[in-house]
Amino acid sequence: MKKGKEIELTVEKFADRGKSLARIDGFVVFIPQAVPGDKVRVRIRRKKKNFAEAALLEVIEPSELRTSPRCEYFGTCGGCKWQHVDYEAQLEAKRQSVKDALEHTGGFSGIDVPATYGAEDIFRYRNKMEYSFSASRWLTTEEIASGKSFNTAFALGMHVPGRFDRVIDLHSCFLPASVSMDIVNGMRALALEEGWSCWSTSTRSGFLRHLVVRTGARTGEVMVNLVTNGFDEERFEKIKQYLKDSFPAITTFVNTSNTGVAQVAIGEKEYIGFGDGVIHDEIGGFRFEIAPSAFFQTNTKQAEKLYEFVREFSEPRSDDLLYDLYCGAGTISLFMAPHVKHVVGIELVPEAVKNAYANASANNVQNCTFAQGDMKNLFDAEFVARHGRPDVFIVDPPRAGMHEKVVKEIADLKPERFVYVSCNPQTQARDIKLLADLYHVEQIQPVDLFPHTTHIENVIKMRLRSDV
Ligand SMILES: C[S@@+](CC[C@H](N)C(=O)[O-])C[C@H]1O[C@@H](n2cnc3c(N)ncnc32)[C@H](O)[C@@H]1O
Repeated sequence: MKKGKEIELTVEKFADRGKSLARIDGFVVFIPQAVPGDKVRVRIRRKKKNFAEAALLEVIEPSELRTSPRCEYFGTCGGCKWQHVDYEAQLEAKRQSVKDALEHTGGFSGIDVPATYGAEDIFRYRNKMEYSFSASRWLTTEEIASGKSFNTAFALGMHVPGRFDRVIDLHSCFLPASVSMDIVNGMRALALEEGWSCWSTSTRSGFLRHLVVRTGARTGEVMVNLVTNGFDEERFEKIKQYLKDSFPAITTFVNTSNTGVAQVAIGEKEYIGFGDGVIHDEIGGFRFEIAPSAFFQTNTKQAEKLYEFVREFSEPRSDDLLYDLYCGAGTISLFMAPHVKHVVGIELVPEAVKNAYANASANNVQNCTFAQGDMKNLFDAEFVARHGRPDVFIVDPPRAGMHEKVVKEIADLKPERFVYVSCNPQTQARDIKLLADLYHVEQIQPVDLFPHTTHIENVIKMRLRSDV
């Protein structure tokens, strides 16, 4: 099998990163946009010692698991990798990915993972979208085929998978509320009319960097956070007026200045154009204030379900001291507060901690303490001596999982109950493997917060072994 060769294959199963796996005489071939059960014609793009990567040329016989993608950018945009997969099949593939991670990375055997808790709303579920500006527009196959000429020095939309420097100029998207794309299209028109430049990763110059639109799923509030390379008072005033006049639904406008090289939508300073610079949303009867830089689950409705599983798995008792590690704006803390004696939350981002306190106060919750700092430095014996020894832990770290030092600290404390929420089953399995001698896995529940993507939230309930 050589690079460039065309072959016919029947697809066997889903693999990592939205690709599928087929075999030819036992040799593994990864194919993007293929679905298990498809009979396909592919071209070998890359051949390695143990596997090859191929491009899909034709679906000769479609799988029963296939469905028609709704979005014109499907296949080019990095947002939805599974829009061509029937939703029930997506849920099953996510369940399987959790099981695989626990077996292969975690070393657990005979683990029973229940069906993924699916979403009712499989489109327009995202309450936050982070769009990028780029001076290197990526043209879709359709755009190239149209024969039209395009301004390739301006793009506002989503990155092409694996290309941090290339962006598709997105005019529609079915993941956020429709106002989100209206704002994108409006901001593009304004920027083009004014001749403002986009950030270039090669020259590290250009004015416009990111456009973050957040919507309060249950409050109807809309926050626009425009990230620019530095701050320009005149442009700021122009954008502010434009957004006010064109989109009365926007409740707050923030301009974040980021002059660093990192391609992130946070920066050194935030300038509030109008509104109070935060957005509110509601989960489980609590109202949350969220700063532009603070984390909030991107699917409000499913987050509520996720937190319900977390609450059930933690078996809260009225005399419990609960630690909520990686607590963000205090969402899980507040959700748990009425069911325990006291909650101690730890979070890295100072604005999120400020939000957590504001949220506790606005919701009249008095039994929460929040501490700001990096878990691996802050969470030690001295911290526990000051705040008390926890009866139960809830941890919800970012994709990278927990620092080994944090896992060790948990092992030293040996709380009876331990609930691990994760958006990355691989790092979750890696971390709990380190605790396998102390804890046994009692329950698992994958929850789908991200339909049409390969991402999954997974909750694991662990209990201290009776013999330790
Ligand atoms: C997946 S979010 C969970 C937030 C919260 N539990 C929720 O459901 O909204 C992970 C949080 O961990 C925080 N974080 C990341 N690295 C951290 C670290 N080293 N120490 C403390 N917090 C950290 C992030 O800022 C973020 O708020």
